[in-house]
Amino acid sequence: MISEKSSDIIKSTITFVKKELQGAEGGHDWFHIERVYKNSLLIASEEDVNILIVTLSALLHDIADSKFFNGDETVGPKKADQFLRTQDLSEENRRHIIKIIENISFKGGNKIQDFHSKELDVVQDADRLDAIGAIGIARTFNYGGFKNRKLYDPSIKANLEMTPSEYKTSEAPTINHFYEKLLLLKERMNTEAGRRIAQERHAFMEQFLKQFYAEWCGER
Ligand code: ADP
Ligand code: NI
Repeated sequence: MISEKSSDIIKSTITFVKKELQGAEGGHDWFHIERVYKNSLLIASEEDVNILIVTLSALLHDIADSKFFNGDETVGPKKADQFLRTQDLSEENRRHIIKIIENISFKGGNKIQDFHSKELDVVQDADRLDAIGAIGIARTFNYGGFKNRKLYDPSIKANLEMTPSEYKTSEAPTINHFYEKLLLLKERMNTEAGRRIAQERHAFMEQFLKQFYAEWCGER
């Protein structure tokens, strides 16, 4: 059960996050946060975790995504830390939430994650679920459009060996992102519930790609 004090912290965090994300790109806006929050609670219901930490980490995890801050990965954790210091929260919990925010991101999958906790596992899975399936497809094309990328270019192959900085600056067509990230996520889920939901969403993306290429080639 969430105490009255925790419920107040959650409410003010929601207000803060909504304000910070006004005007955000469609795949990283308040609705992304809301979905990750809901996915987190769903996954957490099968895990023995601290729900307040899971909730606050889900709500604050994309407060200032480095992609929209010239690649600076410190802005988000700093903003979240400043905000959490205004709340009635233990130092231990605040530090844990910041560690989760610092370590949640994929970054091409070739970065070493230097912090682990069950709460991070849950929120990371919830964030990954929102990157796949129907929502994942929509977010990816929205981001590609935001960056004025091509939908697809058969002459540009996917690159699975990217360093974190290459991953961040890649200008490849949006379809490549499926191979560089989205289709890899199913094997990287941390929790049982996450894996289960990911399988269904993964199958939907494969179906989408099959149809996409058939239409591209004029076969259907
Ligand atoms: P992470 O924070 O896990 O590194 P990102 O913020 O890079 O994840 O990606 C979140 C979502 O933004 C992706 O799932 C995708 O929908 C979109 N996105 C990020 N990079 C790209 C890209 N190069 N092309 C298309 N979509 C992208
Ligand atoms: Ni996210």
